[in-house]
Amino acid sequence: MDIQIRKEQPDDFLQVARLVEMAFRQKNEAVLVENLRHHKQYNANLSLVAEYHGRIVGQILFFPIVIRCGDAEKESLALAPLSVSPEFQKMRVGTRLVEEGLKRARESGYGSVIVLGHPEYYARFGFVPARTWGITAPFDVPDDAFMAKELQADALKNAGGVVEYPEEFSEV
Ligand SMILES: CC(C)(COP(=O)(O)OP(=O)(O)OC[C@H]1O[C@@H](n2cnc3c(N)ncnc32)[C@H](O)[C@@H]1OP(=O)(O)O)[C@@H](O)C(=O)NCCC(=O)NCCS
Repeated sequence: MDIQIRKEQPDDFLQVARLVEMAFRQKNEAVLVENLRHHKQYNANLSLVAEYHGRIVGQILFFPIVIRCGDAEKESLALAPLSVSPEFQKMRVGTRLVEEGLKRARESGYGSVIVLGHPEYYARFGFVPARTWGITAPFDVPDDAFMAKELQADALKNAGGVVEYPEEFSEV
């Protein structure tokens, strides 16, 4: 399919908001995307869209976070949210967004990515339970759904700790 994956632009924001709301069938994640754009840690290079003949049919965002253990902190990225327009689901749009996003995150120098999501879906990209490295969520989550992936060898070695999300995430 003739789908292009590219960096999100301001002209896309309105379409992205509609798409995210349609994908999740509620407004919370669309509000999250909008709020994160105003956060000082936001990295616009890691917000990607899937475009099909001028229409935005998918979006993925990677947000810088830290894994904290006492005074030590390790930089990482949270993959959230990932949205594909309902009419375009199961056509590998999500797969292409994840793969391109992971590639760009690695090229930007990030060593790892954390995701809270469908375990079977993210396992196909190499995500494994974050507990593998002693990494935990700051809120109650199903153990298998809280996952991590190294982008650089041993990036999460000795990185055990609690993931700190910006407060915008707590509103979802
Ligand atoms: C989840 C989502 C992003 C997947 O995007 P997509 O473009 O439909 O996914 P793909 O076409 O790349 O899927 C590839 C495979 O994953 C499977 N898959 C899709 N959604 C899945 C899910 N929720 N759980 C497990 N597997 C899933 C597909 O069946 C497909 O399997 P196959 O290759 O064996 O046929 C999309 O369905 C979506 O936007 N859902 C609503 C919002 C959401 O839940 N976002 C993710 C939050 S973690």
